[in-house]
Amino acid sequence: MELTDTEKIHNEVRQGEAYAPISDIKSVYKKYFYIESYGCAMNFADTEVVASILNSNGYGATKNLDEAELIFVNTCSIREKAEATVRKRLTEFRKLKEANKGVLVGVLGCMAERLKNKLLEEEKLVDIVIGPDSYRSLPTLIQQAETGQKAVNVLLSRDETYSDISPIRLDSNGVCAFVSIMRGCNNMCSFCVVPFTRGRERSRDAHSIIAESKDLFESGFKEITLLGQNVDSYYWYDEQNGHNVTFANLLESVASIDKELRVRFSTSHPKDITDEVLFVMAKYDNVCKHIHLPIQSGSSRLLQLMNRTYSREWYLAKVDRIKELLPTCTITADIITGFCTETEEDHQETLSAMEYCGYEMSYMYFYSERPGTLAAKRFEDDVPLDVKKRRLQEVVDMQGILSARGNQNDIGKTFKILIEGNSKKSDQDWSGRSEQNKSVVFSKGDYNLKKGDYTLVKIKECTRATLIGEIVN
Ligand code: SAH
Ligand code: SF4
Ligand code: F3S
Repeated sequence: MELTDTEKIHNEVRQGEAYAPISDIKSVYKKYFYIESYGCAMNFADTEVVASILNSNGYGATKNLDEAELIFVNTCSIREKAEATVRKRLTEFRKLKEANKGVLVGVLGCMAERLKNKLLEEEKLVDIVIGPDSYRSLPTLIQQAETGQKAVNVLLSRDETYSDISPIRLDSNGVCAFVSIMRGCNNMCSFCVVPFTRGRERSRDAHSIIAESKDLFESGFKEITLLGQNVDSYYWYDEQNGHNVTFANLLESVASIDKELRVRFSTSHPKDITDEVLFVMAKYDNVCKHIHLPIQSGSSRLLQLMNRTYSREWYLAKVDRIKELLPTCTITADIITGFCTETEEDHQETLSAMEYCGYEMSYMYFYSERPGTLAAKRFEDDVPLDVKKRRLQEVVDMQGILSARGNQNDIGKTFKILIEGNSKKSDQDWSGRSEQNKSVVFSKGDYNLKKGDYTLVKIKECTRATLIGEIVN
């Protein structure tokens, strides 16, 4: 069957050529759009859904801001600083809008959801505001904005998962991809804005997740990260086969696609990660031995105020269990310093928990009060900023020691590395990651390997964030 020009481009775009120089067929696109993303991996995955929706409606992606007639920012509200970064970026778009009156600017994602119409009042140059569950209406909103009206849709949904939309892999290395398995969060951690910006938790149709993963593997991808705010509470009823699908079941199905396909997942909530998940990890060599297990605080009193629903002891026991069942598994975490009422003793408990768990890496933040959250309503943000920052520095220093220790321990060991591309510093070296999610750089030598291949690498030395080794095939 003969394809139309538009269909040909759609195919090209789906195969990762989203930015191919297609000026000769530019006329098939109504307009070019430029999109940038902030925040978590789920937001980056959403951007790929948005790009797909736009593409199917005749809009072409461009990396070149000057060429774009539609500018979108997919935003994050998790901390005050995340929002400040977006606001600064929006002021930079003002110049473009002044130079070309036809340019439309749209704010997508969590900040759009949190601020709604207020965003139009506060940021005069914004034409479109669209929340994370409304992306299907983006083409309609663009048309509305083109007539000069402000266009807003921030409705949250109980069932939208975009399961039928095949995302366009935008800034992909062609080896690693994210696959969203659920949306929203029901946990209500008291510090967190996500339940308000992303709505109720819902799991995506397992068949569509497996189909998307297979499709990725068939088009050359070798690593998939299953994404959700709380992947362990994935739960979906399979009407076709009359049974429930848990996260352990889903992980097993994706791991069974092919031995050559690596599987990762993020994020795990300590209260929900089950032995069944750990058993699947142990059973399948291609499920990477790494768990991101945010602790937030090492003090049971603070964890209770945070509404995390586990204690220090529960968390540490979970870590013991992981190490018992998966001896080569690395654990990483998220940590917040200076949450409401945090004392020096609480802070010391965080440092000692970090040491106990031996995190290989952490994302560390000082507490930032978010309007509307339980903590903002109930507790006073009473730890002074300088104390929050000093404690954060101590946490960062502790992580530095733990990461260095972890890297030193890897010297002399051999890991299976998935090659992701040239190293940043030299095209004579490959860069990739171990199952344990550590970056490894090594000389290409005469091995004739390519991006997407696996190779065994023996670690010889390390820097702060990278292991350096050589191929031992
Ligand atoms: N769903 C994941 C993480 C979501 S947000 C989980 O439950 O662990 C990513 C991280 O941002 C959180 O783990 C937390 O460490 C941090 N974070 C969230 N809200 C914050 C706030 N108000 N101030 C500072 N850090 C925050
Ligand atoms: Fe936020 Fe807690 Fe949900 Fe994570 S689990 S997204 S921290 S409410
Ligand atoms: Fe940010 Fe929203 Fe993710 S607030 S961390 S982009 S879910």
